[in-house]
Amino acid sequence: MKQKIAWGTSKLLKMYLAQTESNPFSYCIDDFSKAKSIYGLKINKSKSLLQEKKGLFQIVIFAVSNKSLQEISHKLNQMGLDYAKDFIYYSDFFYDSFVKKASKYLGFKLNPRIYQYALSFTLNSLTLVHTTILGTWLFLEILNKINGLKGQIAEVGIFQGGNALGALHFMTNLKNKKFYLFDSFEGFPELSQYDPSTSKKGDYDIETTYQKIVDTFFPFKEVKLIKGFIPKTFNQIPKNERFSLVFYDCDLYQPAIDTFNFFWQRIIPGGYLIIHDYQTEEGGFTGVKKATDEFFKDKKVKLFSFFENTMAVIKK
Ligand SMILES: C[S@@+](CC[C@H](N)C(=O)[O-])C[C@H]1O[C@@H](n2cnc3c(N)ncnc32)[C@H](O)[C@@H]1O
Repeated sequence: MKQKIAWGTSKLLKMYLAQTESNPFSYCIDDFSKAKSIYGLKINKSKSLLQEKKGLFQIVIFAVSNKSLQEISHKLNQMGLDYAKDFIYYSDFFYDSFVKKASKYLGFKLNPRIYQYALSFTLNSLTLVHTTILGTWLFLEILNKINGLKGQIAEVGIFQGGNALGALHFMTNLKNKKFYLFDSFEGFPELSQYDPSTSKKGDYDIETTYQKIVDTFFPFKEVKLIKGFIPKTFNQIPKNERFSLVFYDCDLYQPAIDTFNFFWQRIIPGGYLIIHDYQTEEGGFTGVKKATDEFFKDKKVKLFSFFENTMAVIKK
């Protein structure tokens, strides 16, 4: 049995360690963390790998953004380490339990081909994706489910559009649905008292120009790109528009309440609401869970959530 080493102190590792009873890792590597340990797991610098013998260990990479996943993979490749043999991704590590959980919660079997697509897209996309590999996978699976239904699609909080772009590449037969994409493209608005004090207005400002984002989506005529702060921009949606899939990914309390208030009544029966960051680490985006629990408290809905991709899923 190879020794298991975690790489990256991201929220995915923190949430895993918080809920597992049998942590298989000997230690964690993070060159940027100031902490010495997380949940009792020692944090070392990457040079500690020099003491390990190749073939006797396997690294599991825990990173959220595709940029971090790509950079860490590149670094490991440069150290002479190979994917599948010497390192894997957190999504590979969670794979079996995630598939089991998803099938129990959602009532359908996840498709391994779609996982391959989500993984490959995340690792190769030059457009930033912050949805997580397993988040993109679940989004695509649900997109497949609603494709036969009436009702449009919306992603609220697209950042540079990575998740939406992955979906549009994947769904070559989505043409008769509109795909609304909302973002300020200036980052966060003013935060509420329920959001983390470590975040602030303007965080998540795009690292490119808005024109570049317009150009990215230009080939997709079904896309309605809407720039500005929600909820004001919701007034650009036609009055009678209905939705079969709404994906909330703004990280914060108030935009979550605003999104639910606007969209919940517009989602058709059988349609889905997906909420990113419903599960989060201590000190993370806890406002999203608060908003969701408040809004749905008096409504008869079943909510299923996954720490593996932070998402909650509600089927109407
Ligand atoms: C985590 S990022 C979205 C990641 C994206 N789904 C992806 O695929 O990479 C959160 C986004 O929410 C946006 N946002 C937060 N509050 C907003 C608001 N009130 N109006 C518009 N955009 C908002 C931010 O600008 C940011 O781009």
